[in-house]
Amino acid sequence: MSKTAKLDLGDKTIDLPVIEGTEGEMAVDISKLRAQTGYITYDNGLGNTGSCLSDITYIDGEKGILKHRGYTIENLAAKSTFLEVSHLVYAGNIPSKEECDALKSQIKENSKIPEGIKSIIKSFPKDAHPMGITSAAMVALSGFYPDLLDQDLTDDQKKKAFPLLMGQLKTIAAAVYRHGQGKDFIESNPKLDYTSDFLYMMNGEEPNEDVAKALDVLLVLHADHEQNCSASTVRVVGSSKANLFASISAGIDALWGPLHGGANQAVLEMLDAIKQDGGGYEKFIAKAKDKEDPFRLMGFGHRVYKNFDPRAKVIKDYCDVVLEKLDVQDPLLDIAKGLEQTALSDEYFAQRKLFPNVDFYSGIIYKALGIPTNMFTVMFALGRQPGWMAQWKEMIEAPGMRITRPRQVYTGKTDEEL
Ligand code: ACO
Repeated sequence: MSKTAKLDLGDKTIDLPVIEGTEGEMAVDISKLRAQTGYITYDNGLGNTGSCLSDITYIDGEKGILKHRGYTIENLAAKSTFLEVSHLVYAGNIPSKEECDALKSQIKENSKIPEGIKSIIKSFPKDAHPMGITSAAMVALSGFYPDLLDQDLTDDQKKKAFPLLMGQLKTIAAAVYRHGQGKDFIESNPKLDYTSDFLYMMNGEEPNEDVAKALDVLLVLHADHEQNCSASTVRVVGSSKANLFASISAGIDALWGPLHGGANQAVLEMLDAIKQDGGGYEKFIAKAKDKEDPFRLMGFGHRVYKNFDPRAKVIKDYCDVVLEKLDVQDPLLDIAKGLEQTALSDEYFAQRKLFPNVDFYSGIIYKALGIPTNMFTVMFALGRQPGWMAQWKEMIEAPGMRITRPRQVYTGKTDEEL
């Protein structure tokens, strides 16, 4: 029997349908609330609002569980490549060998960027933030692939779009890095796998296997994360039927903020500041707890996880392995571990259920791989692109898809006259 929720609004009582997700999540469906009652809902930061029905990613924030299409993130990180997980997230299944080979070759065919995009990247000042350049290059691709600008893409166009954007963003990200270093761009090497090719285009030499594997695992861990700020942005922009390039570029912009993907850069800067300050992290914990001080412990806390972020657990264990394999001793890792332990045993963080998130340890690995701090969020974008594309595709294919257009509670002046 289907469930309902009763809503009592004084003179009126209505029954609202309840939707149950496949993992047991319950949602009160208020789609007809305003039509039936004249009321709207208010939900600051949308923390209680399910904005869509989705088959892609499931999170249980209380238990610290993350699954893509039913597979746990731990399982995927241990056994799958970034390309396989990208296919899983976008197309819905772990690819067969044939599907994987086809995707690899389609991405390779799409790994050259147009000369115009190279010129756009080169037109930026060398010290411009890589996220701004990446976002600009992404939206500029719309001018080079007019066949993907139709309002309603066919299945063939959607199939074409996926390897195209995967190939293009990989090369754009490497070119953005080279530009910042004042170096010439390097063409994609078709002999290499996705992640190795990216590192090759960054550094001009085939990467060591351990380095490529470490980056590949990081990309897997970032592949999707349901309705986070950037995925929601992609959906909102795409809901106006703005094209795919514009939607993904908007996602890159949303990711840039330090409360979202930009936290990976902010964490490393914070750990560096602690080191410069003599290594005592207690002072920074006190600042984070001080309500008069805007400082927050970067890489800590999450809207959904009220327990360990499972991605952070994988990355933390991986940090030790990678640093040992690459023979890198980084004092920032010890500072991060000390900071984490102190915060976890502090009442302030315990009460608010603030745990390390995916960004807390990822920067230490990027740094060990030789990636500069201002490129960290671009690495995140490279990993997240399959998720954005999957969210966008699911949104445009959803039955009854409508433009996203929330309402508001007006609190301004009334009846002014000139
Ligand atoms: N340091 C100190 N206090 C914190 C932190 C933090 N990192 N995060 C949350 N809090 C406190 C808040 O001040 C608030 O305290 P109060 O109840 O006394 O007012 C309480 O915990 C709840 O915080 P909210 O801001 O309501 O939590 P919200 O869900 O809105 O924000 C967010 C989540 C943005 C991730 C937040 O925890 C934060 O700013 N963290 C630091 C930035 C960061 O690491 N972002 C990356 C997130 S993961 C990702 O996007 C990839």
